Formats: sequence, C-alpha cells, structure tokens
Amino acid sequence: MTQSHPALTIVDHPLVQHKLTLMRRTETSTGEFRRLLREISMLLAYEATRDLETETRTIDTPLEPMQAPRLAGKKLALISILRAGNGLLDGVLELIPSARVGFVGLYRDEETLQPVRYYFKVPTELEERVVIVLDPMLATGNSSAAAVAMLKEAGAHDIRFMCLLAAPEGVARMAEAHPDVPVITAALDRKLNERGYILPGLGDAGDRMFGTK
Ligand code: URA
Repeated sequence: MTQSHPALTIVDHPLVQHKLTLMRRTETSTGEFRRLLREISMLLAYEATRDLETETRTIDTPLEPMQAPRLAGKKLALISILRAGNGLLDGVLELIPSARVGFVGLYRDEETLQPVRYYFKVPTELEERVVIVLDPMLATGNSSAAAVAMLKEAGAHDIRFMCLLAAPEGVARMAEAHPDVPVITAALDRKLNERGYILPGLGDAGDRMFGTK
C-alpha cells in the first residue's frame, strides 16, 4: 500500500524488526512479550521525540565551560489509551522519566459502534506540552481518532501517535481525522480481518501483555 498518511514513520531499524518478529510468534510467553514491548517502546520513543526542541545552556564539564543542549519547554505528556497503552508506557517512561502521564479509557457502544469515554485524566497545560499518545495497535483507528479529538478538546495541539503495529485502515482513518498528528509505528501490516484484528498482526495485544484471554 502507498503511505496514505502525510506523516507516517515506520521504524525499520533492525533491532525493532527483530524484536517485533519475536513478539508476533504465538509461542512467545507473556513475560517475554512484555519485556520485548518495553524494549521496542523505547526505540519507538526515540523516533517519536526526534524533533523535540532543545535550548543551549552553559554548563561546566570537569575541564571547561561549554554551551550544551537540553530539552526546552514544558515536560512531555504521555497519554496511555487503556488498557494496552500501558504496555508502551513503561518503556517510554524509562527513557523520559520526567514526563507527565495521562490515561484515556474508551469502550465501544454496541448499538452505535462509537467509542464512549469512561475515563479521562490528563496532565494540566496540555496546550504547552508535546503530547505522545500510546496505543500498541492502530486497527480501525476509531478509538485512536476519538482519543486524539478529546485531547485536542483539552487543549493539546502538538500531538504524536505511537503504536507498535498499524493497519492501513487505521492509518487512513487517522489521516482523515487528524492529518496533523504524525503516526510512528514499527510496522504497517496487511489489513484488518472481519473482527477488526490486524493481519498478520500479533493477536490481542492487551491479552498477550497481561496474560488474559
Ligand atoms: N487490537 C489488538 O489488540 N489486536 C488487533 O489485532 C487489533 C486491535
């Protein structure tokens, strides 16, 4: 498929691709899956934060003063889409320990099929922060697009969406609803099946990371 999103980044680094392959395998245990997800999330976060602004400050090394760069602006906001987003959160927090953290909980109304919010707790001053939305599977994109819309309503305008796997349908949905929100993923898979699972995918990310069924 041609890339249908104006800002889709597929992180094709060999380490990311190797770890993703291990995660996809049916026989990979819950513990191993969680460990790999934590590792990949750090590598994805490296790409998702590539364009963060820096400012220079004078510091003293043991040998002499120098002008050294450091991150500018307010602390980042990491927003986990419950529950699977929490699997990405741990690794990203390891890389960016001072980030502020928010949570968005959505369920699908079985009649309208629309995402409904059951939990929303996000950091203050979102309008001044770079916001990274975390959800491992960009499948239909409906809940992701809804979560991003809620964050925009709460003031966020510099938003990136970070996922492990994306389906073309989800990427297209995000491009339509939020062309201003870059999507960072480890892979763009083939398509969704009739139940909304990504093919070839890795199954239910939440079940695999938490050991539920
Ligand atoms: N959510 C998952 O956990 N897996 C999929 O394949 C699609 C959505």
